[in-house]
This record gives sequence, structure tokens and C-alpha cells, in this order.
Amino acid sequence: VYIETYGCQMNVADSEVVLTILNQAGYSPVEDYKKADVILINTCSIRDNAEQRVFNRLNVFKSYKRKHKPTMLIGIIGCMAERLKDELLEREKLVDIVVGPDAYRDLPNLVAKAGSGQKAINVLLSREETYADISPVRIGDNKISAFVSIMRGCDKMCAYCVVPFTRGRERSRAPESILSEVQDLIDGGYKEVTLLGQNVDSYKWTVQGSDTIVNFAQLLEQVAVLDPTLRIRFSTSYPTDMTNEVLHVMAAHRNICKAIHLPVQAGSTRMLNQMRRQYTRESYMERIQAIRQILPECAISTDIITGFAGETDDDHAQTISMMEWVGYEFAYMFKYSERDNTFAQRQLPDDVPDEIKTARLEEVIAVQQKVAELSNQKDIGKTFEVLVEGISKRSHEHLYGRTSQNKVLVFPKQLGIEAGTYVDVIVTSCTTATLLGKMV
Ligand code: 5AD
Ligand code: SF4
Repeated sequence: VYIETYGCQMNVADSEVVLTILNQAGYSPVEDYKKADVILINTCSIRDNAEQRVFNRLNVFKSYKRKHKPTMLIGIIGCMAERLKDELLEREKLVDIVVGPDAYRDLPNLVAKAGSGQKAINVLLSREETYADISPVRIGDNKISAFVSIMRGCDKMCAYCVVPFTRGRERSRAPESILSEVQDLIDGGYKEVTLLGQNVDSYKWTVQGSDTIVNFAQLLEQVAVLDPTLRIRFSTSYPTDMTNEVLHVMAAHRNICKAIHLPVQAGSTRMLNQMRRQYTRESYMERIQAIRQILPECAISTDIITGFAGETDDDHAQTISMMEWVGYEFAYMFKYSERDNTFAQRQLPDDVPDEIKTARLEEVIAVQQKVAELSNQKDIGKTFEVLVEGISKRSHEHLYGRTSQNKVLVFPKQLGIEAGTYVDVIVTSCTTATLLGKMV
């Protein structure tokens, strides 16, 4: 089996679950799709261009199959499978297998079915499935950092977002299974885990037969105390659900990285309301102030959408001023892409012309570069603990790693320092995207 993954970190974690399930059924992973009997594309539906990329790639695989290996099976799994369902099987027999995010346990059966020429589709969503008992094989080659999914789905129903339809209702994974997966990673020499969920702050586990509830702050603390040399990251946080309790747990544990991904999406209360986000400009700013106060060293990153339905020049200006006010260390920035069946598609005309969406996006990107560089300049002269990830891609004489704030720091190589070690590095200069320094 060959698997290719698009979209978010959650999909990367899911691909590991998929490979584990197939592995148990006798399939081993291959690195070259031409050697595979089964090709799976784990897909993303968040924006139209994400889907177009997958269709282009699918054409490459299909043409190889047609010309060289007619027995090869091709499957679409993940969000596009969930969104397009039968259409993918019926439309010019595009693919052989279609599996949604909650049906991966059915994959061995579906692959066998497709192999015998039957229709192989399962797009049932579940209220319970968290793949809790599956201890995933790791795909990445670095053996330092791993994703651990702690919850699935999303109940927020933001007006523009297809995720609640493709990934289903929100559900949390049992803390014991999370802790034992993290412990296995520690035993395997891993140095960093990222706890994943569409909205980690609404993590909630009710202990069976009691009224005891484990919330995200408590889970985070339980993970942090497993090993003080294991770094812990998490993503994504929802502004109104991110509690001070979480911030205090972060402050109390050195190994919980000081970086929070807190998507704002837009800067004006009018737009946020239209997007059905559950906060205002002011209440978002209040959360930022809480972070600044409790975690003065914390980096903040965000997601921004430009040109959402009804966005005016004034709304856009408020997004820009928000970016400057927060001074985000990092941002993912997108043009609004209307998605079928969302509230926005049904109720809010996609009325901002594409040229304006693009112009606003370009401005947002330029402002982000400026604020990120300002933040990097403030780091010059400071010393950071860096977890080394490997040799710099640009120069064999340099190593790179990340600070707790998730910034990449590049510095000259020294004997005995390798991937997975912690070193203290003083920052001597910077570019927009990288810090440069030397070991102290
Ligand atoms: N168009 C553009 N961006 C979107 N996102 C979600 N839905 C859309 C859409 N329809 C962005 C949001 C979210 C990130 C994962 O993708 O910013 O936080
Ligand atoms: Fe989509 Fe909103 Fe859920 Fe994020 S919080 S996945 S933007 S519905």
C-alpha cells in the first residue's frame, strides 16, 4: 500500500492509523506508488484548490494504472470521500475505493471487495470512533516528533466550514489510551508530541461510573508530567474555549511549549458574527491579553480568511489592525472558498470579487511578513533552548531545530550534537522566517 496525505496534521495522524489497520491485515507500506497494489489518497475538502490538487494527482495515478498495472486499486479516503461519496465511484469510474474518516477499520474488507470487482464504499460517520485502541505506526522519518490525536470532529459550525460535515460530531478519546500512546513514544525515544484536535479546548472525557470529568487542561497536565524532557505542543485552540486554566497549566510546566495557535479568521466583530464565530473582536483581544499576562514568552499564531461574504474595506482594515496589534509569529492565510452545503453557501452570497479577495490576501501576507520579522528581531540577543531536528537543508555545516515558541533556529554544527538533543542557542540575527544563532 502506498499512501499520500493532503491537508491538516489530523490527516497525517489518520494516515498512520490507516497504515496500521492495513498492516495488521497483511499490507506493508511502499515508498514508490509504482510498486503498490493499493494507492490511497488521504484528502482535504477545506478549500476548492485543495480538492483540485487531489484530482490532478489522481489523474497521474490513474494513467499509470491504465498503462502499466490494471490490477492496481486506487482509493480516496478522508474528507473528499465523505463529501463526494458515490459520485467518486460513479463519475467515469474515478476510483475503486471510497472511505470516510470514521470508517478506516473497514479498509481491509473494502480493499478485498474492490479487488473482486465489487463496489467498495463506506462513508458512515460515527459518534464514538476515536481509533483509541490503535497504536499507530509512524510515517515520518525523524523519530523525534509525533502527532497524537486526542479528539475528532467539530461541533462549532462556522458558516464557511465544511469540517463538521466531513469529520462529523465532536468526540474525545479516553485519557488512558492517550497517555499510553505518549508513554510508548517516550519509550521509543521521541522527544516531542503534538496533541491534535479540531478544537482541543473542548476535549472532555467523563470517567465511567462517576461524575469525574477530565478537561483539556487536566489532560495536558497528565501528559506533561509523564516526562519532563518530552516537549508537548497542541493544536488547534478555539478562542472562546481556551481557558485560563489551560494557560496556567502551560505556565506551570516548562516542557509544554509556549506557542498557541488561536485562529482569529477576521478582525471585525461584524465579520466574526457573519462567520458564526462565537467571539467578538474585543473578546478575542481579551484572550490575547490573558496569554500575554500569564505566558509573557508565548508565541501566537493564527488563521485568516480574506474576502468572506460581505467583507468590506473597513472589515479588511480591521483584520490588518488585529494582525498588527497581536503581532502573530506565524499565520496561515487563505482566500475564502465557498463550500457546498455550508451555512454560508446557503445563506450568504459569495459577493467579494476574486480580484479583491486576492488583493486583500496579498496585503495580509505582506503585513504578516512584517510582523513576523519584527518578532524575530526582538529575539536577537536572547538565548533559547532548541530541540535539534537535523542538518540544515541550506548548509551541511549547520544544524536546525525549534524553540519552545516553534520558531526555526539555525546554528553552526558542533561535534556530538545530533537530532533529538536539546541545546542552548543565542540568537545573533534573523530573516523573516528563521532565526540564526550560535550555541552557548
Ligand atoms: N475558505 C477558506 N478558508 C477556510 N478555512 C476553513 N474553511 C474555509 C473556506 N471555506 C480556513 C480557516 C480554518 C483553516 C483550517 O482553514 O481559516 O481555520
Ligand atoms: Fe471549521 Fe470552525 Fe470547526 Fe475550525 S472551529 S474546524 S473553522 S467549524
